[in-house]
Amino acid sequence: MLIVQTIAELKACLNGEREQGHSVGLVPTMGALHAGHASLVERSVKENDVTVVSIFLNPTQFNDKKDLERYPRTLEADCELLEKCGAQVVFAPSVDEVYPEPDTRVFSYPPTDAVMEGAFRPGHFNGVCQIVSKLFDYVEPDRAYFGEKDYQQICVIRRMVEDLKMDINIVACPVIREESGLARSSRNTLLSDEERQLAAHIYRVLSESRKKQMSVAETHDFVVSEIDAIEGLKVQYFSIVDGLTLADVSTWDDAESVVGCITVYCGAVPIRLIDHIRYK
Ligand code: PAF
Repeated sequence: MLIVQTIAELKACLNGEREQGHSVGLVPTMGALHAGHASLVERSVKENDVTVVSIFLNPTQFNDKKDLERYPRTLEADCELLEKCGAQVVFAPSVDEVYPEPDTRVFSYPPTDAVMEGAFRPGHFNGVCQIVSKLFDYVEPDRAYFGEKDYQQICVIRRMVEDLKMDINIVACPVIREESGLARSSRNTLLSDEERQLAAHIYRVLSESRKKQMSVAETHDFVVSEIDAIEGLKVQYFSIVDGLTLADVSTWDDAESVVGCITVYCGAVPIRLIDHIRYK
């Protein structure tokens, strides 16, 4: 496995692959890799001749600088995991390499990027689009792999790819969960054992809400009240939305696919956890 830090090295090695007609898969990450990332990399390895994994803790997508500071950094362990998964190239650039000067580009795809995470983390998706568009330009992948855990992020990236007319297949991969149902996330390492057990209630309640055959408003209120009743958990938002545009729905018939997206604060620090469930 080749580990490169500069765009020039990355492009040189990918040019060689392209000359041989090899397909390229890209898995963008911010490091602190876990089983969820491994599943993306393994899928890319199966579907492409070459898999590039980027590890870059992108400062422009963090509106909360404290969140950026405490984000886990585990480059050595990440590379060991990627080697086992069969990735061929790791791209781990410095901030100066990616942003030699501030990126002033503005991406705007309402309502998709304006609601939920977009409303509570102003500038977050602009930062995601800045880095992902740069990575797409450097790597020019045939396919790029993203975890459905960040459901809204995939919807925004699809809009960006459409807008920039990029010929890249965005592959959405299913959420990988711990045995308790908790969605795997790099942020889970910041939770104590007790908080991890609490956090497992998020998906339990979401799953229960799907079985209850309630209206959209009742489903919303059920999820929020059940989770808020658990000491140590506090819902920031729970939105039931069109699975494509992410516009709010008020009845189950308002859209072809309907998804419930939730963000919950967990524990003393607290740690912000996101999850979602598909209703139809
Ligand atoms: O999902 C993530 O880890 C990040 O938002 C991404 C896509 C790697 C961009 O920094």
